[in-house]
Amino acid sequence: MARIFVSCILPGDGVDRLAREHDVVVGEERIGVRGDAFLRDAATFDAIVTLFNDRVDAALLERAPRLRLVANFAVGFDNVDVPSCAARGIVVTNTPGVLTEATADLAFGLLIATARRIAEGDRVVRSGAFTGLTPLFLMGAPVHGATLALVGLGRIGQAMARRGRGFGMRVIYASRTRAPLDVERALRATYVDLDELFARGDFVSLHCPLTPETRHLVNAARLAQMKRGAILVNTARGAVVDEAALATALERGPMGGAGLDVYEEEPRVHPTLLTQGNVVLTPHVGSADRETREAMSRIVADNVLAVLAGRPPLNPVAA
Ligand code: 8YV
Repeated sequence: MARIFVSCILPGDGVDRLAREHDVVVGEERIGVRGDAFLRDAATFDAIVTLFNDRVDAALLERAPRLRLVANFAVGFDNVDVPSCAARGIVVTNTPGVLTEATADLAFGLLIATARRIAEGDRVVRSGAFTGLTPLFLMGAPVHGATLALVGLGRIGQAMARRGRGFGMRVIYASRTRAPLDVERALRATYVDLDELFARGDFVSLHCPLTPETRHLVNAARLAQMKRGAILVNTARGAVVDEAALATALERGPMGGAGLDVYEEEPRVHPTLLTQGNVVLTPHVGSADRETREAMSRIVADNVLAVLAGRPPLNPVAA
């Protein structure tokens, strides 16, 4: 029987399945590996199940010499120092695939909500300020016929492209490596460089991982390249965007708005973003539909049970 630390209560039956075979300690929500439940017994754990906000760095690994596995409850794994894990023979896994459609749903929802000013409209109605229709009231940006510019055309980027096509949008994309031609053809997505992408997109949506290369990829210079009235959508990682530069660009233009699910220093949000009418903000809920979260929990358990039984992991990640 191995000892497993799970950052906090997870949906679905993943943790129950682990507890049937192993000794499981569940940490506190929002505290995870920073809490006493982990720190007290760190040296005894064989595996840990982490969340996006659990930082797994060399200092943590130092305290946990028995560790064989870090199973991240997320597809992104920028919170884990994968090279340090590899150097210690620790396997790292993630939860790819199952959250693709849910995340693209939320990204497209943010796109429409920002373009058509849905959250602003909701605030108007609730505050009693809706005094009857006038032709100029709350006019937004057209979605249909607009250009959807995707940074990254991995699983989630492709799912976003399909949604864009369904809404009659033109799709362009930039990525580190160009997608295979059959993927481009099926999505009718045109490969462009980042300069053209930011200059042409009516909507720029981010679907790349956070890496040293993509940190602050969307900076003041990139924001200045955006079209008048263009909208930025971020469901990837907050630090892909320089949030202070975004706040300034939203105040001064030329961009028109932003739909954001992720922030540079969650749960903190840049104060200017909170006061801007042309911004729609959600609290990192990209994968938060019931089926998706239960599937993530299942995948985490499958990976932990496999590795602890001496079988290969199902979803290993590489540095
Ligand atoms: C969250 C995510 O990690 O998968 C990712 O990379 O950002 C999200 O799915 C998830 O909400 C659990 O923390």
